[in-house]
This record gives sequence, structure tokens and C-alpha cells, in this order.
Amino acid sequence: MNPGELRQYLEFYKDLGVKDLYVREKAPVIVKPTVSLPPVLPGLAPENDTLAKIREDIGDCKRCRLCEARNKIVFGSGNEEARLVFVGEGPGADEDAQGLPFIGRAGQLLTQMIDGTAKKEGIIITRNDVYICNVVKCRPPENRVPQPDEMEICGQFLFRQLSTIRPKAICALGSTAAKAVLGTKEGVTKLRGNWHKWRDIPVMVTYHPSYLLRPYNQNAKKEAWEDLKAVLHYVYD
Ligand code: URA
Repeated sequence: MNPGELRQYLEFYKDLGVKDLYVREKAPVIVKPTVSLPPVLPGLAPENDTLAKIREDIGDCKRCRLCEARNKIVFGSGNEEARLVFVGEGPGADEDAQGLPFIGRAGQLLTQMIDGTAKKEGIIITRNDVYICNVVKCRPPENRVPQPDEMEICGQFLFRQLSTIRPKAICALGSTAAKAVLGTKEGVTKLRGNWHKWRDIPVMVTYHPSYLLRPYNQNAKKEAWEDLKAVLHYVYD
């Protein structure tokens, strides 16, 4: 393996949360992951990757336990050349039934937030102009939070989606998306309102629309609109 390929591998594994890979002198290669790994490390994203190829590679996925109760794999939807990508947590019941992301109550709020903020700010885009996907592509039972191994296994496809689209910015919705994209344990309250990075792409973290639907979280709504305003101006001005 040449040094360029090795660097690509290391970056890819870093994105997957693998922090330490080192060689001991006169000893076999020691791989000391800080998170549990799937039995086989995933391969690098193929050259000239496309969303169609990624979807094909996912196939009728049985790589983790989420396949057991899912109806449809929810790959993503929207403009495949979008300058902005929203990343949610995982499909809910409506999404699982239809195979499309963010079409239930939280999705309707997300649509309103994108369309409404853009209109108010004089930015001529709607939800159809952005791309929307999730960290895990199958619905977790009872809408539970995806487990670390499920995020790791599905994360390779999310990273390939992001690398293929190469948007100008990414908006991570909620703490699961923030954890997957930024590899951080910090909560949304700490992360939101500032720019972070995935590889060289700016990332804004904001509240998940489901969180904003709860009546006692109404203060967060104002902050989420502010975050979205900042993202839309950065991407489309
Ligand atoms: N919540 C998510 O995180 N994603 C969806 O697609 C729907 C609800």
C-alpha cells in the first residue's frame, strides 16, 4: 500500500471513530480501536463513487440487527448535487413505511423550517434543493437511539454519501447525527451555534425537529431557526 492510500485509510477509519492504529517494532501490527469494530473493517469508498453505487452496495442490508424489524431502507432524498445536506438520526414509522426520510411530523417541521427560513431570508430554495439522509438507514425498534455498532456499520454509507455529494455545508440534526459526523460526545446545547468540520466541510449542529415538537422545548425553537438562518446564508449567499 502506498503512503497516499494509507493516509486515505487512516482518515476513513478516523471518521468511523477508530482512534489508534499503530505498529510495534518487531511485532505484528497492533490494531487498538477505542470503539468496538464490526468483524471486518469496511473497505474504502470506491473511486468515482455515486449515490446509485452506494445504494446498490447497501443492497438488502443484513449487516446489523436493525434489518430484523425494518420495512424499507431509507437511503436519502433530495437534490443529489445539493450544496447543503441535512443529517438526521434514523427513520421513524412513516419513513420506514415509505422509504423516504423526514416525511412524518418531524419531517413536516423540518420542511417548514427550511422553506420558511429561506423565504423569510430572501433565499430562493425549498426542501427539494437540499439533500436529506440519516445516520442509520433502517428504523430502530420503538424509535430507540441507534447503538454504537449500528452507527458504525451504517456510518460508512453516510460518509460515502457526504463524500460523493461534497456539499458546501452539513447540518447535523440532534446529538446522534452530531456524534456520527463529528465523533464527539458533546450535546447539542454545547455544539450548536458554532461551525465545526467534517473533513474540510463546515458542519452546523442544531436541535432535532422531534425535540422541537415537544411543548416544553419551545425556547430551543428560536435557537434552531437562528442556526438554520446562519447555515442558509453561508451556503446560498
Ligand atoms: N427522524 C429522523 O432522524 N429521521 C427521519 O428520517 C425521521 C425522523
